[in-house]
Amino acid sequence: MSEALWWQTGVIYQIYPRSFADASGDGVGDLAGIEARLDYVVQLGVDAIWLSPIFPSPMADFGYDIADYVGIDPVFGTLDDLDRLVAAAHSRGLKLLLDLVPNHTSDEHPWFVESRRGRDSPRRDWYLWRDARSDGGPPNNWPSFFGGPAWEQDAATGQYYLHLFHRKQPDLNWRNPEVRAAIYDVMRFWLDRGVDGFRLDAYWVLFKDPDYPDEAPPRPLGEGELPVGRYDHPAYEDRAEMQEVVREMRAVTDAFADRVLVGELYLPLARLMTYYGEQLEGLHLPFNFSLVTMRRWDAASVRAVVEAYEAALPPGAWPNWVLGNHDMPRVATRAAVAGAGPAGGRLAHMLLLTLRGTPTCFYADELGLPNGDIPPDRVVDPQAATGRTRDVSRTPMPWDDGPNAGFCPAGVEPWLPIAVPPEGSVARQVGEARSSLALTRALLALRRNSVALRLGTIELLDPAEPDVVAYVRRAGAETTLIALNFGGRDLRLDASSAGDRGTVRCTTALDRDGPVDVAALTLRPYEGVVVTLD
Ligand code: GLC
Repeated sequence: MSEALWWQTGVIYQIYPRSFADASGDGVGDLAGIEARLDYVVQLGVDAIWLSPIFPSPMADFGYDIADYVGIDPVFGTLDDLDRLVAAAHSRGLKLLLDLVPNHTSDEHPWFVESRRGRDSPRRDWYLWRDARSDGGPPNNWPSFFGGPAWEQDAATGQYYLHLFHRKQPDLNWRNPEVRAAIYDVMRFWLDRGVDGFRLDAYWVLFKDPDYPDEAPPRPLGEGELPVGRYDHPAYEDRAEMQEVVREMRAVTDAFADRVLVGELYLPLARLMTYYGEQLEGLHLPFNFSLVTMRRWDAASVRAVVEAYEAALPPGAWPNWVLGNHDMPRVATRAAVAGAGPAGGRLAHMLLLTLRGTPTCFYADELGLPNGDIPPDRVVDPQAATGRTRDVSRTPMPWDDGPNAGFCPAGVEPWLPIAVPPEGSVARQVGEARSSLALTRALLALRRNSVALRLGTIELLDPAEPDVVAYVRRAGAETTLIALNFGGRDLRLDASSAGDRGTVRCTTALDRDGPVDVAALTLRPYEGVVVTLD
């Protein structure tokens, strides 16, 4: 176990660069802003940061529409700024991951500009062009994730190009070996510069059925169900050809020491697991979104999700957990259900940081930031066309109680309205011994000092109380019990199957510690406890 790698013992912190810290004073976050706040990240106690895209982009999808894979958008800074940020992160012991978007480019990328010139353009086949149907309509009925058809007709030739996302995000043709080689070169470019790996965007839809069949109408969404991870689009989700690309990308990455590949894969568990590779020669961390796509936020669902995920993991594969990201509603909002209020988010964090595997934290979740209130005239997300805007989870980091919460200078309009969590800004929470921020720091410190939490096994207990999730983490002589009350009642829990006596190391309210009788563990409403057994 001493052989564990940094991405196994570490914790990843996702920064959405537009929203973290604005050093240039234009209302949009930037690289210099992140660099200036690195000490906050270090003090939080995470080990790596993942930056959402920072490359030149027309920003139709806020950077996920890339016009140049090997540059930096001026809104974020320069290549020098990035080099400085990497060096500053490394000097503090932090790793840095970039977001790689292999499925599509911007329509303003020179590759696409050339491709669209005509049918015999040398780069025509780099994208997915199809003739119109006989009635002039799009080649098939595939919908874009951002609403409307996934096809756009181009005036130059009358052909349609495929865009599973925005019409300004044409899909690349992954069957073309030149496309693959070009993206692998992009990976080498950044790995050479010292970047520690990539989060691979939209990784579950790279290949399309070459027959482009019409798809069946989608199943209606169930209550609380999100339109991802359902495997509704077999013609372009998780196609068999992906496995070869996974191996190729891993080989590119393995030519550099100690790098990591994380994949965005909204897939059912059995399919997700194949991305580890049969001999674990695939992705290091295929993102596990089970806690994000879970339809109900309650104890029974959490138990079911943990059990199913642990059971599905192939031997030797390293688990990982995620609570939120820039595409999903904030966890503080999702977990506040049924009376839990802000305590729900605290409980969620205790869960995330004590489960087995690498956690990824989304910026500002450590503060208990809920979904922002975005007035209709401030909505900017292209996905809002589907009726669901992701702007709510992308609001600026609330640093202090000054103008614009310290995110950008006074008198400048931030790109999205500022939202402040119930417990206040970073500055306020730093000074509060029992704040959500203090809890995240305490849990991360505990994790750092506990081999059981970092690397130990996990065993779910079967508590008599339906509102409780309880599990035991073990490594060597250390045994740690975690008990989480997802209900609104005071409970007394018998966890004596794990041991007799223990010491409370942390509670979600941060208001008690010391020895406890594990056979009669009390839990207040929505309270979680971490107990080391004697
Ligand atoms: C991923 C990103 C999302 C983006 C989409 C298209 O799902 O997380 O923000 O809109 O890919 O790149």
